[in-house]
Amino acid sequence: MDGRVHIVEMGCGTGAGAHHICKSVIPQCSYEAVDMQKSAIQTCLRKFVPELSGRLTATCGNATDLKIKNETADFVVVCETHVTEFPGVVTPEDMIFFQTAQRILKPGGFLVWGNAIPATTWKASFDYLKSIGMNVIEVRDVTEEAIQARNEDELRANKYVTLCLQKLWAFKIPLLGAKKRKEAEMALKNFYRNPGTRLYENMKNRTDTYQVALIQKIS
Ligand SMILES: C[S@@+](CC[C@H](N)C(=O)[O-])C[C@H]1O[C@@H](n2cnc3c(N)ncnc32)[C@H](O)[C@@H]1O
Repeated sequence: MDGRVHIVEMGCGTGAGAHHICKSVIPQCSYEAVDMQKSAIQTCLRKFVPELSGRLTATCGNATDLKIKNETADFVVVCETHVTEFPGVVTPEDMIFFQTAQRILKPGGFLVWGNAIPATTWKASFDYLKSIGMNVIEVRDVTEEAIQARNEDELRANKYVTLCLQKLWAFKIPLLGAKKRKEAEMALKNFYRNPGTRLYENMKNRTDTYQVALIQKIS
């Protein structure tokens, strides 16, 4: 990696975060963004990869089965990737996910992880990470900030959902269309924890907490 900071993101989506880090946070870094969704990677390849002069690569793949070599990343980024979603337990799939992060990190490298997940799963995850040679350095609870962000984004997000749903003619079918439209609307809004949804309420009553954690691979 030519002595540059090398970052791997496990579950990069369309790569908006990868682009932000490459452009504005660590402008000399190299960055491999991985996601299992082909369409997300295609968007990243179209929108972000060309302007970063070879520093950003986008790879379609499952983060539990990465071809990346051992001990090559200075940082592994995990942001809202759908892992550790079961209350109080680390599933076998979560374990493989964390083992992969540990494997590709250089000794002394950092896993930077943020998400809203069941509050009871954080301790189980940290215990598991410690058992595979990862030290939890710092954890911050940003649930209040995440709720505030959802509140501030509500109007914009609602407009976007309305525009999406208007495009589908099937929702205009009498009776059944309206019912299905409502279901689709709730599913979309729940996905990003819009006010009024179950996942938003889970943050309010702290069934789920949004935390960011810095975890270091033991040298
Ligand atoms: C909510 S998005 C977050 C995207 C990005 N990290 C961000 O912050 O904008 C979660 C992404 O994780 C991806 N993902 C979930 N499990 C994955 C896995 N095992 N391997 C690769 N990608 C995964 C999904 O395809 C999805 O694009």
